[in-house]
Amino acid sequence: MNQHPNEFRTSLLEENDGPGHNPSSNPTMGEIIATRFSRRALLKGSLAVSAIAATVSPIALITADNARAGAAASAFDFNEVEAGIDENHHVAEGYDADVLLRWGDPLFPDSPEFDPKNQTAEAQARQFGYNNDYVGFIPIDGSPSHGLLVVNHEYTNEHLMFPGIVTVTEGKITIADADRKRVDIEMAAHGGTIVEIRKADGKWQVVRDGKLNRRITAATEMELSGPVAGHDRVKTNADPAGTKVIGTINNCAGGVTPWGTYIMAEENFHGYFMGDLPEGHAEAANYKRLGIPEGVYAWGKFYDRYDLSKEPNEPNRFGWIVEVDVSDPNSVPKKRTALGRFKHEGAESIVAKDGRVVFYLGDDERFDYVYKFVTAGAFNPSDRAANLDLLDEGTLYVARFSDDGSIGWLPLVQGEGPLTAENGFASQADVLIETRRAADLVGATKMDRPEDVQPNAVNGKVYVMLTNNTKRADDQVDAANPRAKNAFGHIIEIAEDGGDFAATKGKWEVLLKCGDPSVAEVGATFSTGTSPNGWFGMPDNCAVDSAGRLWVSTDGNSPKATGRTDGLWAVDTEGEARATSKLFYRVPVGAELCGPLFTPDDETAFVAVQHPGDGGEDWEKFGRPSYYEDLSTRWPDFKDDMPVRPAVVAITKKGGGKIAL
Ligand code: FEO
Ligand code: CA
Ligand code: CA
Repeated sequence: MNQHPNEFRTSLLEENDGPGHNPSSNPTMGEIIATRFSRRALLKGSLAVSAIAATVSPIALITADNARAGAAASAFDFNEVEAGIDENHHVAEGYDADVLLRWGDPLFPDSPEFDPKNQTAEAQARQFGYNNDYVGFIPIDGSPSHGLLVVNHEYTNEHLMFPGIVTVTEGKITIADADRKRVDIEMAAHGGTIVEIRKADGKWQVVRDGKLNRRITAATEMELSGPVAGHDRVKTNADPAGTKVIGTINNCAGGVTPWGTYIMAEENFHGYFMGDLPEGHAEAANYKRLGIPEGVYAWGKFYDRYDLSKEPNEPNRFGWIVEVDVSDPNSVPKKRTALGRFKHEGAESIVAKDGRVVFYLGDDERFDYVYKFVTAGAFNPSDRAANLDLLDEGTLYVARFSDDGSIGWLPLVQGEGPLTAENGFASQADVLIETRRAADLVGATKMDRPEDVQPNAVNGKVYVMLTNNTKRADDQVDAANPRAKNAFGHIIEIAEDGGDFAATKGKWEVLLKCGDPSVAEVGATFSTGTSPNGWFGMPDNCAVDSAGRLWVSTDGNSPKATGRTDGLWAVDTEGEARATSKLFYRVPVGAELCGPLFTPDDETAFVAVQHPGDGGEDWEKFGRPSYYEDLSTRWPDFKDDMPVRPAVVAITKKGGGKIAL
């Protein structure tokens, strides 16, 4: 998510998804001085060259070009896209970037065609939802060219969705209050899509009559499962048993499990709640730590469950990892409480040596934490049904990154260490409902907004995207978060002990500090082989292809921030080319890029273009903040094959073949 569930309304918020509350006194670097500054000698040289190049000395530029020409070869074979800004998307020469699915596209034989001026909740619930984020692919019969595409719909931008709701008076922008009809459409535009797709003659197509096609929305009934199910703290007037929840919201990134289920991570759920808790309510501190209620959406005016004065326990039923069995379109999605409750970015997984399954989890807030969950049981590759409740039992760990380059995974288990009844954790359910407070107490490391965390089966490493944190003060710098006012983010690489993803110890180092390497003060550490197009800021989502190569998509590059749009960058992690980055694809102005995902044959990269055209005040051609009616004038060259609406784009090589090999 870029900035906020509804940044248009809350543009005063500087840059973060949430309120940035972490009151614990865990060490930041005021206490741990950065004794480990791992920039390599090679990089020092390249930075010096780049810094000189910034002064536009012709000789220095030639030197920089020579440095690149002499640099170790990237593992990625494609000619870079030129970084820049315009209304279209761009992919590397020799590739096609085809819009596969857009907001409003029909998903079923009976779906109405998209009609933005006559939207209804019923239509939206049969169409592709808004703001696509996570993209997963679940092959059918093992095929790399026929399967289920699973896509999260994270949130709604009302000003970009609904005609006639924005007024501009003397430069002041107002959005009309939502009525129930609009709220219902918004709720139907959230959630996820499961849709059959097939590649024919090199092009992907939606199979509209696919038997497993399904929309999940903020109105879909779900089950709470695992240690929190039925606990008093999740009981409501509407659900006195504390086991049935209506809907899932703000599903950001996610995952596909080794047994072929779809994971939807609930991220910025705090924005949907409004109203006041009853005086002296026991959940007050719990909610404050999460920024609840924020009241960005008007849903609580029409649905009691989003109003704290009416259903004070409801927020405890959100902020979970949701698992969907895609093999049955009527299956009840399960909120897997064993994986903790926080602002879940995603949940990428891998099978450990002993068969247990490890899920890596980021909590996307400034100064919050990186987690992993290790199942108690082992994955059974020959019995799918035996795996379907693996996520109800296991151990949740939080990461402590030490300044000596070691990482410890600290278990969040009731009764261990400070997680006692005296500290308010009478049961494991309490630990999970207040995961952040439990992590505070065990001494986790406060990070610069952990987004995707991706295990790599080929090289045995794990990559952590840390998107930015401009609130980190000089005395809060630590080895794992080495820059104060970190505007551009960084990427950490973890090597678990013995190459065992279930290990509780390992080593880490900074793979990359992001930002413009030609500006010395930025302190970016892209390699000498990285061209002026190749650097980026704000890493958010990432993918690893079957060759084990890392691809990073971004959220927050803009005309103002970096002079370029967001995009998909290929990042070398091995050998002398390590920390070399190349731009493969970039999005229209205003968009962030999510996904990305490679099919098992590496012949397609799916990417998700979120909120194209948003934040138009940054783009002089638009001239003012963007909103729906303005679309045709601010986007005069609009064509139907451009991602103007949120869209999933399929990138393939012209004539076929593996991408970038
Ligand atoms: Fe929804 Fe952390 O991005
Ligand atoms: Ca994002
Ligand atoms: Ca994200």
